[in-house]
Amino acid sequence: MTFQILAERPDDAAHIDPLLDLTFGLGRKRKTVHGLRDGLPPLPGLCFAAAAPSGGLLGSLRFWRIGIGDRTAAVLLGPLAVEPALQGAGIGHALVAHGLTEAKRLGERICVVVGAPSYYRPYGFTGAVPAGLVLPGPVEAERFQVLELVPGSLGYPGGSIRRAVRLTV
Ligand SMILES: CC(C)(COP(=O)(O)OP(=O)(O)OC[C@H]1O[C@@H](n2cnc3c(N)ncnc32)[C@H](O)[C@@H]1OP(=O)(O)O)[C@@H](O)C(=O)NCCC(=O)NCCS
Repeated sequence: MTFQILAERPDDAAHIDPLLDLTFGLGRKRKTVHGLRDGLPPLPGLCFAAAAPSGGLLGSLRFWRIGIGDRTAAVLLGPLAVEPALQGAGIGHALVAHGLTEAKRLGERICVVVGAPSYYRPYGFTGAVPAGLVLPGPVEAERFQVLELVPGSLGYPGGSIRRAVRLTV
């Protein structure tokens, strides 16, 4: 499967919501992480598209600003979604690897994700609950993970994750 990872293009936006509905189901809007993003824009430099040679959207990854407590800025990885017919071809991994590299390049220090531990562990994500992080709603503890993009950035005890409208790195 040939694809390219690009910065999200203006035309991608209209295709992303239907892709998320298809891959996550409509229940996605009841999840705790949705509440952290709802009504807020994703981080403009951290929205990526996997594109076919024809230009068609095959996958999407966006990051959102979140806060840990009042003072620590972090990014929330996801949603990450790949067209069902093309899953398992490395598109998701390419999006995550590129996204994390870009987040670090832009000066982000901490990344949080709620997802399959086996999928995110290879990037260095570890359990967020043992790190003292708390989400403002229900979550399966083992799916709640954190990565220090810059080692030592996560103070202890971690703190409560919150919607962060004003925090910048
Ligand atoms: C999860 C998802 C983004 C992965 O993208 P992808 O392009 O299919 O994945 P890749 O080809 O990069 O990686 C495939 C590997 O991921 C594993 N994988 C795929 N989905 C997984 C999941 N939900 N949980 C755990 N592992 C998963 C596959 O088993 C495969 O493992 P292998 O390499 O050992 O064979 C994609 O399957 C998807 O859109 N799923 C629906 C939405 C979703 O669950 N998003 C995840 C949010 S955390």
